[in-house]
Amino acid sequence: MSQAIFNNPKVVARGWYFVCPSVDLLAGHVQSFDLCGQRIAVFRGEDGQVRALDAYCPHMGTDLGIGDVVGNHVRCFFHYWAFDGAGQCQDIPCQAQIPTGARLPSYATAEQYGCIWIYPDEVAPVGVAEFDELKGHDDVIVRRDRPLTRHCHHHICMMNGIDVQHLQTVHRLPVDLELSLQRRAEEGLIDFTLTGDLPQNSWQARLGRWLLGPTYTYTMRYAYGCLGLLTLMKGVRLIPPLHMLYAYRPLPSGETWVQPIYVTRCRPGLWGWVVSQLLLLLTQLSYYALRNADGQIYDNIHFDPKTLLPIDQPLVEYMRYINQLEPSRWSRHDVDAMDVDAMDVDAMDVTNIANSISPCSTNTPAS
Ligand code: FES
Ligand SMILES: [Fe+2]
Repeated sequence: MSQAIFNNPKVVARGWYFVCPSVDLLAGHVQSFDLCGQRIAVFRGEDGQVRALDAYCPHMGTDLGIGDVVGNHVRCFFHYWAFDGAGQCQDIPCQAQIPTGARLPSYATAEQYGCIWIYPDEVAPVGVAEFDELKGHDDVIVRRDRPLTRHCHHHICMMNGIDVQHLQTVHRLPVDLELSLQRRAEEGLIDFTLTGDLPQNSWQARLGRWLLGPTYTYTMRYAYGCLGLLTLMKGVRLIPPLHMLYAYRPLPSGETWVQPIYVTRCRPGLWGWVVSQLLLLLTQLSYYALRNADGQIYDNIHFDPKTLLPIDQPLVEYMRYINQLEPSRWSRHDVDAMDVDAMDVDAMDVTNIANSISPCSTNTPAS
């Protein structure tokens, strides 16, 4: 049986979680954040490198976030114990000897897309997920939108991009899409690529088809169950692929905090800058066109699927993918994390779907 990670508020999967914009943490500064039920002190040493530790000092529990950065150490405000990036106490002003218990758990950090990310372990086996089209382009332009909260677990609202039925019912987009799946387990990724013919049911649709070409493709890449990388406008004329990320963070209330981030390649010259800005704007408008209707769903859902249809097979594959992730040390251990009211995909009534598809790297029609 799969581990019940999907929709389980007690499990935090191993993966990269958004902390803050890079510009919000200058060299020589420390700040504490509530991340996935943890209090984490994040500090940037004078060498510019970001480090992260459990926030509460092992002496008497003062939050290191109110302390100072000295060189590349963070120093507690209360009695001046100083910790390095590995969490080891390196200095206690009142005595030379450092007790063995004077250390804190530390976490891997990364800076990508103009943001700081944290991994709930000392070492991360993979970097923050990338878009295929932007690989090798260090110079990307990033625009962050206002974060929002959804009243459901993040695994639920993450599925929106691959819920094919709702494109027609909620968004009224008359497109028939074909699904192609690719799983990259070692990187914690799964790609859902959906391709279809552009509609011709109105003059606007026909104009769009004349401009962009007959087919349309988008890819939803999920990474570690907490990051969604959406690529729109693949394989069309005139417009290069548009990219946006959804960075999800579970909240103690069971809700989800979402940070939308638009990304495009940096293009040379003034005209290149204008084009990049226009593409970011187009990405943002595409997102805005769907956001409010989607919000209505995910602020009013008690996800409990009893009967799924063949068209829902991307959702089933997504749930399987989530349940194959690894729980992190941030998962709650106060109760048996697996013995909760969480989603067990294998127990759901999706037998005909499960039998009709192989778990990954398959091409299957979604409708
Ligand atoms: S509480 Fe941190 S040094 Fe005493
Ligand atoms: Fe949607």
